[in-house]
Amino acid sequence: AVERRVNELLGQMTLEEKVGQLNLVSHGPPLRWEDISEGKAGAVLNFNNAEDVARAQALVQQSRLKIPLLYGLDVLHGFRTQFPLPLGEAAAFNRRISFLASEWAAKEASYVGVNWTFAPMADLSRDSRWGRIVEGFGEDPYLGSVLTAARVEGFRKGGLAAATKHFAGYGAPQGGRDYDTTYIPRAEMYDTYLPSFRAAAEAGSASFMAAFNALNGEPSTANAWLLTDVLRKQWGFDGFVTSDWVGIGELVNHGVAADGAEAARKAILAGVDMDMMGQLYIRHLPDEVRAGRVPESVIDESVRRILRTKMRLGLFEQPAIDPKRTDANFPSKEARQAAREVARETLVLLQNKDDLLPVKSGTRSIAVIGPLADAPQDQMGPHAARGHKEDSVTMLQGIRQRAQSAGITVNHAPACDLMCRSTEQLSAAIEAAKKADLVIAVFGEPQELSGEAASRAYLDLSGKQKEVLEALADTGKPIALVVIGGRPQVLNSLVERIPSILMAWYPGTEGGNAVADVLFGDFNPSGKLPLTWPRATGQLPMYYNRLPSSRPTLPNNRFTLQYIDEAITPLYPFGWGLSYTQFAYSDATIGQKQLDAGQMLDVSVNVTNKGSRAGQEVVQLYTRDPVASRSRPLRQLKAFEKISLNPGETKRVSLRVPVESLGFHLDDGSYVVEAGAIQVFVGGSSLAGQVGEVEIVKTISLPPDERR
Ligand code: IFM
Repeated sequence: AVERRVNELLGQMTLEEKVGQLNLVSHGPPLRWEDISEGKAGAVLNFNNAEDVARAQALVQQSRLKIPLLYGLDVLHGFRTQFPLPLGEAAAFNRRISFLASEWAAKEASYVGVNWTFAPMADLSRDSRWGRIVEGFGEDPYLGSVLTAARVEGFRKGGLAAATKHFAGYGAPQGGRDYDTTYIPRAEMYDTYLPSFRAAAEAGSASFMAAFNALNGEPSTANAWLLTDVLRKQWGFDGFVTSDWVGIGELVNHGVAADGAEAARKAILAGVDMDMMGQLYIRHLPDEVRAGRVPESVIDESVRRILRTKMRLGLFEQPAIDPKRTDANFPSKEARQAAREVARETLVLLQNKDDLLPVKSGTRSIAVIGPLADAPQDQMGPHAARGHKEDSVTMLQGIRQRAQSAGITVNHAPACDLMCRSTEQLSAAIEAAKKADLVIAVFGEPQELSGEAASRAYLDLSGKQKEVLEALADTGKPIALVVIGGRPQVLNSLVERIPSILMAWYPGTEGGNAVADVLFGDFNPSGKLPLTWPRATGQLPMYYNRLPSSRPTLPNNRFTLQYIDEAITPLYPFGWGLSYTQFAYSDATIGQKQLDAGQMLDVSVNVTNKGSRAGQEVVQLYTRDPVASRSRPLRQLKAFEKISLNPGETKRVSLRVPVESLGFHLDDGSYVVEAGAIQVFVGGSSLAGQVGEVEIVKTISLPPDERR
């Protein structure tokens, strides 16, 4: 029925009206409001309040065909209530948490009329120099697929259609430089960079956004392999693709188009249906069609995809929005509760020597040191939609409030400015530290250093932060460091001098309460790193699921895999994160050992809480194909499960993996699970120990378009 309606409507449209549907314009210039009533816009972006949406809706009613608009906005991790940035959210290793955060973001945004989000960002990245790593799920394709799907579903439940971005390979720019070129072999695209996008398509992402970068020399915005062969033909996606901001015009910068007309032609022929902010489709496509350089059937197909999406979303039936709706009553109590619940699950306890944390009873005074302790804007992180810094509960506020209830005094000293360029205030901080029983230092990466166009060549704590932390350590006082930021920071010798380190990412509106919950032991930390934490920037790119080397590391042999000036290991591995309790793994068993197509690798293990506090553990299952026709990763995450355990409690956890996910892709997108042994590892991080081996009895081959 939808297809019939789409075709009926298409049949009534002039070429200009069709091309109008392909035009996506931002609020503010160059949008002329009359464009809407004249049918020259199919979607708008950066509309973030009901008054503007209502005005646009009224103009749609004056247009000839009254085709509703999509109202797009970057709603990544909250609308008014800010949830942790996606990289932090990934550390929760929890589908429910990702769903919940996206659902809340969508509920608030859709209340004021936004119906389309430029999220989730499904770009996998193995290089923390890339500033946008904060917007994604980290380095693992399986974790990424699970969480990207949960985000798409959460957005949809809350009322937002997703534009999963940036298709594809944008997270692997050379040198970690945003917008730089990307070289990824096709088999590696299928194995590593595309699974989260495919998961988004299967979870019902309404649309995709083409990436800015060139992939193997072909800009994504004109890449027919990505946009047509993979997305449409192999995956059967029938929604639409938008370009990124003026991405079509940038085909000229890429050197694959001489001018705007050629750029428009190449993009539409490759499969980009909508032009974000370029105005090139509306300007050139009618002439390109009339000149016979673009068949009208190609335009028709793009319009069909857009109309189909709008119909499926129910936009044609939607009543006009009340322009008086505002976000003034956000964040609600419930949204705050959800934001706190999500934030505390994302905190990763990286180290905790001598069990310094949680704060001991008997502590009488705490010095909270650092400019990021009271930085309401920065803790929201980049892309904070309609977030108001006044809504933030800062670390200082959260700690102060919790400490007060325990009769602990709190003194705050920033020690330096936000960028820590000057240490004029250091002596006051040292004095405060000397007078305290415990120092809670809050340092890291101000939000200006993270996000789009924030590539960094040095991941060291910026400015004079290291100097400040060394001076604090010199006081001899015990220090718990809370790290704020959008990626791992290089900590150098601080890891020896500071006993406890908690990664807090950008924890959002309720970040201060969430961090206090963990510092004081009201919530037992359970986050795990969704990416490898390097010791030095020069180690990047660094990731756990790498291929074996011809010369595996041997400590006393220089001619093996190593650096001569740094350890070869990361500081903290993927999947790593401590708890205030300890978990022990025992009695792992593997169900059937001989596996054939359609069967499951079935692993069970006992997990026991050995400590005296309840806690959560992320049980992780990794596999390795040790001998194959091509080199396979040393480990690959294939399943995980987050469980809760009371003190002394043991749970038997079963993890199941379809045999069809134990193989790898070939360059044409086909997939093979080769006969032979597969090693199995289970534990609480990517260092998990081997628990056994199974055998694939005969090779399984799947064509590119097979679901798996
Ligand atoms: O969604 C973003 C994208 O990630 C980067 N360029 C602008 C888009 C819309 O704001």
